[in-house]
Amino acid sequence: MDKLVSLCKRRGFIFQSSEIYGGTGSVWDYGPLGVELKRNVKERWWNSMVRRDDVVGLDASILMNPRVWEASGHVGGFVDPLVDCRVCKGRFRADKLEDARCPQKPSKQPGQHDACQLTEPRQFNLMFKTFMGPLEESASTVYLRPETAQGIFVNFLNVQQSMRQKVPFGIAQIGKAFRNEITPGNFIFRTREFEQMEMQFFVEPGTDMEWFEKWKAARMQWHLDLGLSTERLKFHQHTAGELAHYARAAFDVTFDFGGTLGFQEIEGVHNRADFDLTQHQTFSGKKLEYFDQPNNKRYVPYVVETSVGADRVTLAILVNAYREEAVEGEDEGRVVLGIAPSLAPIKAAVFPLTKKDGQPEMARRIVDDLRTAMTVDYDEAGSIGKRYRRQDEVGTPFCVTIDPQSAGDDTVTVRERDSLAQERVSTSQLRAYLAARLV
Ligand code: GAP
Repeated sequence: MDKLVSLCKRRGFIFQSSEIYGGTGSVWDYGPLGVELKRNVKERWWNSMVRRDDVVGLDASILMNPRVWEASGHVGGFVDPLVDCRVCKGRFRADKLEDARCPQKPSKQPGQHDACQLTEPRQFNLMFKTFMGPLEESASTVYLRPETAQGIFVNFLNVQQSMRQKVPFGIAQIGKAFRNEITPGNFIFRTREFEQMEMQFFVEPGTDMEWFEKWKAARMQWHLDLGLSTERLKFHQHTAGELAHYARAAFDVTFDFGGTLGFQEIEGVHNRADFDLTQHQTFSGKKLEYFDQPNNKRYVPYVVETSVGADRVTLAILVNAYREEAVEGEDEGRVVLGIAPSLAPIKAAVFPLTKKDGQPEMARRIVDDLRTAMTVDYDEAGSIGKRYRRQDEVGTPFCVTIDPQSAGDDTVTVRERDSLAQERVSTSQLRAYLAARLV
């Protein structure tokens, strides 16, 4: 993880937020390459979840009526038990003490040093509060949403009626969520501001477990299709004690981040039954029922939810992709991000072998042509070997070199990142050649 964090900073993937002021606790900024990678992840999700007959998209606002969070159970129940140590001033989750380490040496679990003085657990609500309007008083308290899901539930009827959707159907959205986590960390794994990609699928009660199984399988396949390795992915079923207040059944898709983190949740698939719609009916006084006209049935639909963190998946992709390897005939090895070409932030890098004989001009023409179809980088600095290494390290799948032969026969060399294979390709075919391989 340390190597990855340093690569992410050095190569423009991810920076600490407000770094020049000493940073902000567990908040991160995506640099030029990070933002491309994360956009590719989100686009991939949107295309697979929304570009189908039975799911439509939504973009609900972050600030909502505070009653939403009473109905959802977040005001009363979205809490972690917190303990403080009066001696070392450490702050820990009372239910995760076995995973925590006291700052005193030697490293032990909080409470295990003779000097430790832990307070009684206090309930700590994870929602960020702010005020709407000029008065900072409790009547104007609003919350930054801790999940995007509630924006979907409160819009259930708007979407269903305006789009004439028939149950079963889903609503999907991508957006920011905020949680004042007590123990954030592990880079972008657990942060206080993050992005969720959530889909609520509304079904007839009684068909919910069938849909739950279908979505569970579909979501695991999505992660495999990203290129995450099979051995690093597995399901974790929530036991009765782990189930969230709204869930009838829940499975996490977990990914093996390695090191001390090991297997951790990257996505949750939940059967939320009619918990949310019924709660919003009660709190808003508005009926949130579906009328099944052909069968003359009226009911509150059950909901199967798929909820994945865009940042966590991005981290999983980076961890999965990072490798160091020896290169035959060279003293120095190379660092490679073996990201699937379709997700790579830069698809092709174009190099003139030398800065003369019209090579830079030809390279520029190729860049202009490719740029209309993909992200491209132009690099003429340093030896070809160094330029290859720079691109390997950020996961660029193809490097295109213009050499003395190029001016004569209008061909270039295309070098593939993983196999290191090189092929001569005519410039007129180059775009199609790369496009066919960017899958
Ligand atoms: N609507 C259900 C829900 O929010 P969750 O299990 O609390 O369920 C879903 O969150 C996903 O959101 C997680 O699997 C994870 O990928 C992401 N996530 C949750 N908290 C996060 C945090 N503090 N930092 C980064 N990602 C987080």
